Amino acid sequence: MRTPTLPDRLALSALPTPLQAMPHASAALGVELLVKRDDLTGSHLSGNKIRKLDYLLADAVAQRATSVITCGGMHSNHCRATALAASQLGLRSVLLLRTPSGHVSDLPSPPHGNLLFDRMADARIVTCTPSDYREQRQLIMQTLADSLAAAGERPYLIPEGGSNALGALGYLACAQELLGQLGAPPDAIVVATGSGGTLAGLALGLELAGVPTRVFGVAVCDDAATFEAIVERIAAEAQAAYHLPELTPGRYRVLEGFQGRGYGLTTEEELTFLLTTLHRDGLMLDPVYTNKAFLGLVGAIDQIAPQRPARVVFIHTGGIFGLSSYAAELAAIERTTHA
Ligand SMILES: Cc1ncc(COP(=O)(O)O)c(C=O)c1O
Repeated sequence: MRTPTLPDRLALSALPTPLQAMPHASAALGVELLVKRDDLTGSHLSGNKIRKLDYLLADAVAQRATSVITCGGMHSNHCRATALAASQLGLRSVLLLRTPSGHVSDLPSPPHGNLLFDRMADARIVTCTPSDYREQRQLIMQTLADSLAAAGERPYLIPEGGSNALGALGYLACAQELLGQLGAPPDAIVVATGSGGTLAGLALGLELAGVPTRVFGVAVCDDAATFEAIVERIAAEAQAAYHLPELTPGRYRVLEGFQGRGYGLTTEEELTFLLTTLHRDGLMLDPVYTNKAFLGLVGAIDQIAPQRPARVVFIHTGGIFGLSSYAAELAAIERTTHA
């Protein structure tokens, strides 16, 4: 494997993460299924975002930042991870959160899930409407950065999901870690896609390693064209900055059709699938990302593994703290199944 010159990273994430066999799901799907447990990159700092933050926050520290600003949905895993990692490093954090009406009163009180950790990490929370978030989040974050700079701070901006060229290196490194754990490269890797950086990083890591493995990103919102454009942009930026190879056509694919009712929304069928997977495989998925990704793996297994025997790796990207937001729906299903 060629080694490009990559920037320094912190060691916030507990690596390597384990690779776990899934005997029951493997038998049901007719492939060898392994799960890369990136939900175990830490405890409160768990999930895929930490691998990205290892690079992003190393850059923030190198630039002598005193605060970090980032953005996401109201229950964002990325914002929680950034706020907690920032407090660990002695940096202040500012989170721009998208809420239904843009008012701070939309936030659940008392806070729960990721929001509870945001508050405990002492993050400053700023809210905005979904349309302002879509069209102006960069501008809003820049305005926040300007006002912090005017007050003598050195703010560092992290994009949504930590998904830029630097953050994606966390998943280039994950691909290398995974290949090092396996005797032979897997046929396919499947992962949830929400802002594209994880998918871009994995594709770059596989390309760099020169293995034939294909990576499938299951869109949890938006559509395939949106994510393809994002992956192409991140990959082009990373190729230019770190001398990485061009992506071979077909190296990655975005799978759509598993977004369900949309970002953060779920259905009874989806939650029943989540519970069935937990009871059969002992795999705890989250309703926003990994459950939809695992649904995609099961639903599109013939495209993911057209030839058998095949070895497929599902990357569990975390999201456990989001589960408490779905407590009522999950309890209702549990009651029905145990009635
Ligand atoms: C738990 C979880 N899984 C997967 C993703 C998707 O990763 P990415 O944003 O890099 O596409 C995210 C964040 O968006 C996440 O929080």
